[in-house]
Amino acid sequence: MTILVTGGAGYIGSHTVRALVELGRDVVVLDTLELGIRSRLGSTPLVEGDIRDERLVEKTVRKYGVTDVIHFAAYKAVGESMEQPLRYWSNNVAGTISLVHSLLANGVERLVFSSSAAVYGNPEHVPVTEEAPLRPESVYAETKSTMESFLTSCDAIGLRSVSLRYFNAAGASDDAVIGEDWSHSQNLVPRVMKAMLGASGPLQVFGNDYPTQDGTCIRDYIHVVDLADAHIKALDYLATGGKSIACNVGTGMGTSVLEIIDMAEQVSGRKVPYEFAPRRAGDPTTVFADPTLVRAILGWKATRDLRDIVGSAWEWHSHSYKPA
Ligand SMILES: NC(=O)c1ccc[n+]([C@@H]2O[C@H](COP(=O)([O-])OP(=O)(O)OC[C@H]3O[C@@H](n4cnc5c(N)ncnc54)[C@H](O)[C@@H]3O)[C@@H](O)[C@H]2O)c1
Repeated sequence: MTILVTGGAGYIGSHTVRALVELGRDVVVLDTLELGIRSRLGSTPLVEGDIRDERLVEKTVRKYGVTDVIHFAAYKAVGESMEQPLRYWSNNVAGTISLVHSLLANGVERLVFSSSAAVYGNPEHVPVTEEAPLRPESVYAETKSTMESFLTSCDAIGLRSVSLRYFNAAGASDDAVIGEDWSHSQNLVPRVMKAMLGASGPLQVFGNDYPTQDGTCIRDYIHVVDLADAHIKALDYLATGGKSIACNVGTGMGTSVLEIIDMAEQVSGRKVPYEFAPRRAGDPTTVFADPTLVRAILGWKATRDLRDIVGSAWEWHSHSYKPA
């Protein structure tokens, strides 16, 4: 029983690979390394290649005796997806179709998929439940909701899947060995760290006139180690015969941009240089999860709070950053 982790050398993938290895599960990673880092994987086997290479996927499945897949491999930058739609549809959607084709041809029938809260767009109600309408507002979000539909339709041909709709993944491993590299991410926490360590100019905070308590946007930040655990619970759910589902993976707590900055200052003892900038088009005001379903079906809940998230990110960034 081997788990194939596509995109396992990326940020969330590498934390999940570590969690699987710690549990003694057999793992093989398939990653182009375009945005992944080999050293994150330690001694876990890596096949360097593309999910769209059907011969390579089939060879990997047979060689390692793959029974289950966690599918992280995708592009994830919202702004870039609007400028380069072909690249996103090709990698995220055509890539997933190709991957599933190779898996089914070789008898692999269980898959955990990295979806995103972006599928909800700007939700009318928070906390967001899985019943909320899917209203993707970017090419990236469209690719995620299309892949969810594709996977649902594959039920009829024997593929069972769990689509995990992640809210905002952040933080680093407890031992500060792996974390979220700011050169590959536009996410808030690495940008806060970059500004605080003097590796960029002041952090741009997009919008301070939203109808929230401090005027900045509110999101649901989830510790990457908690998120990794949700994948393991999803694998176990499928292995015990669970039906295909899509569920939120979030804490149920909303945190504003200024609250993240405040926490970063508390854990580091430093100031975060920041300035307000105009709102970005399409940024929803407030998004946080209703995590009832994931708790009921997968038995998962977040165990780490905002201090753990920002504190672990600070530990990792402050130890790994070497000023030129
Ligand atoms: N980071 C977040 O907050 C977040 C939120 C919601 C959803 N997601 C989704 O989770 C997944 C992982 O995100 P991440 O933050 O770890 O991203 P990441 O960019 O760090 O990791 C993605 C990995 O996939 C690899 N990859 C990309 N295309 C590939 C292909 N065709 N074949 C093989 N490997 C390929 C990259 O080299 C990289 O190592 C993505 O699908 C992303 O859309 C992330």
